[in-house]
Amino acid sequence: MALNGLLDIELGVPNPDDLMDFWERQGMIRTADGVLGTADRDVQLRVTEAGYRHMSELHMSCESEQDLTDIAGRIADLGVESQVVDTRLTCVDPVFHHRVVIDVTAPHPLTPSQHRAWNHAGEQTRTNARADAVTEEAPRPPRRLGHVVLGTPDPAKAYAFFFDGLGFKVSDQILKGIATFGRIEQDHHNLLIHPGPTSYINHYAMEMDDIDAVGKAGQAVVGEREDASVVGVGRHYLGSNVFWYLTDPSGTMFEFFSDIDQIIDDDAWERDHCRRDWGGADGPAPLGVWGPPEPEVFFNPVDLPEIGAAREALGLD
Ligand SMILES: [Fe+2]
Repeated sequence: MALNGLLDIELGVPNPDDLMDFWERQGMIRTADGVLGTADRDVQLRVTEAGYRHMSELHMSCESEQDLTDIAGRIADLGVESQVVDTRLTCVDPVFHHRVVIDVTAPHPLTPSQHRAWNHAGEQTRTNARADAVTEEAPRPPRRLGHVVLGTPDPAKAYAFFFDGLGFKVSDQILKGIATFGRIEQDHHNLLIHPGPTSYINHYAMEMDDIDAVGKAGQAVVGEREDASVVGVGRHYLGSNVFWYLTDPSGTMFEFFSDIDQIIDDDAWERDHCRRDWGGADGPAPLGVWGPPEPEVFFNPVDLPEIGAAREALGLD
């Protein structure tokens, strides 16, 4: 009885048409004005015009109307007012200041990926045929929005809102507890909050069918914008997902990911099982178990001062 899904996000950007066109070229579907969906889910990214790039709304689902009442009570204890009308709760995040909207519903399930035949060592499942990653003409499109990562100078306050208030479950913590991976679905994380010089969206992540889908889709983005790649391809320690991070035309980083850990039994999940901590006692761990190290801009995008100034002008920080 709790939050049960990340439905969609709204991104505010100076040039919404550029972002809409970009995602349509990557295989997402324009399902309404300013709305992008996937084959299984009509609404995944909403795009609106804004003076600076930011996430303007986080839309989630929960199981019951009682959940809305419980959430409203918990966030009220943290000083956050909310409105509940019928089966919807709305409030404003106290740190990032995006709208938070929670509906009593659940994400539409995905149709299973079309499996590819692989020839693993000692096991031949594809004979007398080329790999379909080779023969498929177009990259496979994104399947769904999987998670968002937010940076802020006040991670403790953000943690209190998301975990104590909204009810995210902790999957793993790094930086001695300052940065926290949280989930409301089975995915290892639907959210990561990390320390940053200003409150901003670090990245949003789109699930892909498999590593070939990640690779081919990422390559298509690099094909149209040579400097779009930030880091990838690799496989994370925390969440185990295969990743490729790139920037969208607004400058926001996004991730194509696949094969993320699924947690279906909270008691069976061991937090910190990999004993890795960025900058911890064992020394800084790289981003992935394999793959290139993250560049400085991964946690420090070049336009952060601009975002900080825009927020300050709006009285948000
Ligand atoms: Fe990610």
